Amino acid sequence: MLVIGLMSGTSYDAVDAAAAELRLLDGTLLLKPLGMVSTPYDEELREALAGALPPAAVPLARVCLLDTRIGQAFAAAAVRANRELCGGRAELLASHGQTVYHWVADGRVHGTLQLGQPAWIAEATGLPVVADFRPRDVAAGGQGAPLVSLVDLLWLRGRPGTPVALNIGGIANLTAPDGTAFDTGPGCALLDAAVREFTGGQLAYDVDGALAARGRPFGPLLDRLLEEPYYALPAPKTTGKELFHAEYWRAVERLPAEDALATLTLLTAQTVVDAVRGLDATEVIASGGGTRNPVLMAMLRTRLREIPVRVSDELGLPAAAKEAYAFAVLGFLTAHGLAGTVPTATGARHPSILGSLTPGRNGLRLPPPAPGPPVRLRIE
Ligand SMILES: Nc1ncnc2c1ncn2[C@@H]1O[C@H](COP(=O)(O)OP(=O)(O)O)[C@@H](O)[C@H]1O
Ligand SMILES: [Mg+2]
Repeated sequence: MLVIGLMSGTSYDAVDAAAAELRLLDGTLLLKPLGMVSTPYDEELREALAGALPPAAVPLARVCLLDTRIGQAFAAAAVRANRELCGGRAELLASHGQTVYHWVADGRVHGTLQLGQPAWIAEATGLPVVADFRPRDVAAGGQGAPLVSLVDLLWLRGRPGTPVALNIGGIANLTAPDGTAFDTGPGCALLDAAVREFTGGQLAYDVDGALAARGRPFGPLLDRLLEEPYYALPAPKTTGKELFHAEYWRAVERLPAEDALATLTLLTAQTVVDAVRGLDATEVIASGGGTRNPVLMAMLRTRLREIPVRVSDELGLPAAAKEAYAFAVLGFLTAHGLAGTVPTATGARHPSILGSLTPGRNGLRLPPPAPGPPVRLRIE
């Protein structure tokens, strides 16, 4: 089945669309990557989104506008991916949408909201769409995240030692082979927010870590930031921009830009390192846009010393595209009546078949249910 996974993470930089040919063969899920196209949000939509994220209070008219515009942006990305990667032969779309709110209280997730009305995607492509992956896991008592954990587990199964998958997007998250998965805290979110403030919006992120490379982490501030209680909470736990939002800017604004960026980069690195060490990892397989920041990667490698940090490309999944591929897999699983979650990872009472389905132009014809769930994922 030819599936396109559509993803925009908490960095809300672009809609990533990855196409994959997926087949289930005797317990092995075979994934042939066909490529990824990344379509940046236009600046107007990006600004509308930025203004709506926590801690902003937002009128429903704005929510409706965002749901529509994001749905249209995802639809355009889907049309493009189908044309450029699939020769127009895609069969199913799996859309994560854009997280705008992750409602966490007392360590539990009570709700999670992804915008990007799937009707626009179905209308533009004529294809069925699986969307709204997270809420079903929340309804089953889970965190609704990290949803890539099942894909990580299937993908890394059989590797020697204790390989830990790490994705550094706006927020960073880990999956360990025993089924533990959680958000470690900030990935690039605080860096991006600070860079935008320091450059008056000229830069969206610290390109190649250039600013942080020229600065020095300010120890006392780092120590204070590390006191955030989230880091000490046990897994399963997830977080978002409700906790790690642009207001962190207040903590660093008095520092020279370079030192502020160096401090925040080290905050991300140190919280990831502490989490990795807590899992007795023997290697880290990293993905996400944060792997493109050489200062962050150097900080991780220095502090993880004997634990090698590999980038997911080495194992066949390009770092920038891994999450979009993961959602293609989750859409495929739903279409085949298979669960997309691991209860130990999300904290749910049971595994769930994820998502809501929007029919395509020719209605909704699903493949026959799979005889059983995959036990491993192989990249072809
Ligand atoms: N060349 C680069 N140098 C430094 N950081 C980068 C670079 N390329 C991407 N990034 C970081 O990666 C982020 C996007 O990563 P991504 O995996 O798309 O996150 P998300 O899933 O949250 O959208 C950017 O906002 C930026 O912080
Ligand atoms: Mg992104």
